[in-house]
Amino acid sequence: MSYEILDISRAHAELEKAGRSNPGPWISHSQYAALACRNIAQKCSHLDPMQAYILGLMHDIGRYVGVTGNRHLLDGYRYCMQFGWEKAAQICITHAFILKDIGSLLGTYDMTPEEFEMMRDFMETVTYDDYDLLVQLCDKLAMPTGFCLIEKRFVDVALRYGTHPVTVPRWKRIYEIKNHFEQIMGCSIYDVLPGVVENTMKITF
Ligand SMILES: [Fe+2]
Repeated sequence: MSYEILDISRAHAELEKAGRSNPGPWISHSQYAALACRNIAQKCSHLDPMQAYILGLMHDIGRYVGVTGNRHLLDGYRYCMQFGWEKAAQICITHAFILKDIGSLLGTYDMTPEEFEMMRDFMETVTYDDYDLLVQLCDKLAMPTGFCLIEKRFVDVALRYGTHPVTVPRWKRIYEIKNHFEQIMGCSIYDVLPGVVENTMKITF
């Protein structure tokens, strides 16, 4: 492992490189997720907005490999760990685990049994902090075209992946996370997401 500094310019360069490797709407989704992380963190004195921005930019970096299912979580984790970016690596996995349950993911588990075990062991020992929760929330606020009401993203995901026994428990947990940050901020998350109304009203189907 070689430790390299993950600052904003490096994070931008990494996302750009990943976009060349696997172009797609996930790049602008990541950029909007990062902006949402930064804007919300600016209202939370215990969070560093720049750190939040970097973690938002990097959360889906495992998609550099190509079009994959849940293995993009592991690919992102491994990619970040090779440079010693432990928190970014952690969030590459935790952003998908709204519920801390290995069976609660949507999409395919396109990984070997050993990789599945590794991810389960990781999830059994990891401790979430507010950066993990912030990226979980902002992942749901970021469409490739801009910010959106959480409910729109919920429907977007349900249309793409179908519903699942954990769909409603996941929605409830996201509302808890939203409330958590709004209490700290003293305002609605939507107050710091410019263009959210216009973007939510766009027809995307
Ligand atoms: Fe994402």
